[in-house]
Amino acid sequence: MKTIGVIQVKGGAGRSTVATTLAGELSKQGKTVLIDCDMPQGTSASWFAVRQQSDVKQGQLFSQNLAADTAANHRELVAKVEQYKDVDYLVLDGPPRIAELTRAILVLADLCLVPVGASKAEIWATSDILSLIEEAKQVKPVKVRMLWTRYRPQTKLTQELTALVKQELGLAALDTSLGMRVSYMEALGDGLTAAELADPSAKAEVRSLIEEVKKLMRSI
Ligand SMILES: Nc1ncnc2c1ncn2[C@@H]1O[C@H](COP(=O)(O)OP(=O)(O)OP(=O)(O)O)[C@@H](O)[C@H]1O
Ligand SMILES: [Mg+2]
Repeated sequence: MKTIGVIQVKGGAGRSTVATTLAGELSKQGKTVLIDCDMPQGTSASWFAVRQQSDVKQGQLFSQNLAADTAANHRELVAKVEQYKDVDYLVLDGPPRIAELTRAILVLADLCLVPVGASKAEIWATSDILSLIEEAKQVKPVKVRMLWTRYRPQTKLTQELTALVKQELGLAALDTSLGMRVSYMEALGDGLTAAELADPSAKAEVRSLIEEVKKLMRSI
């Protein structure tokens, strides 16, 4: 079993988008459980409920190899991770706070992705979790990678932000970045992944994300 956590203390950074995309796509390759640790908001849990309903309505099998669950605190999360130890992939959608849950995700996951949107505020917020990452690494080797979301290449702001990330965070980024695309917004509300919509650019990004994540997990 491989566990991937999606953490970020800044709200609205794109955690649920990344977590649902990973869960939806990885479930096509193996038994997957998506655990929503951001209760009571529960975006990932709602996404899964919509996905199941649309399977029924449209005769699809998108949720066939996928299940969703929730964890309201770190003790519950530890118990759930143990409960699902026989599945292929476990995806953990984190809360927007520095909480025991974020700490627990870092310790329980093999790989943690930190989505960062194109704003300085998100980079400042990310610096708050650096010490948590260091603490977790004392307990267990965990790979942590930043993931650019709502990325717009070749803008002045993006260049500035890339420099700021290098200087302030020193956190390695995935080669894949997710662009600013309506497909991600639509997919989240419709219980889908952006790769399941007719948007070739989103499809290519999501495919690249999954390949990169799998490659990183193989080397763990
Ligand atoms: N790459 C993207 N392009 C366009 N819109 C995006 C992208 N990623 C996320 N969004 C949109 O931004 C909003 C916030 O994203 P999301 O819910 O994934 O973030 P979150 O970090 O889980 O937020 P919350 O703190 O509410 O849990 C959503 O409306 C989502 O559709
Ligand atoms: Mg969320």
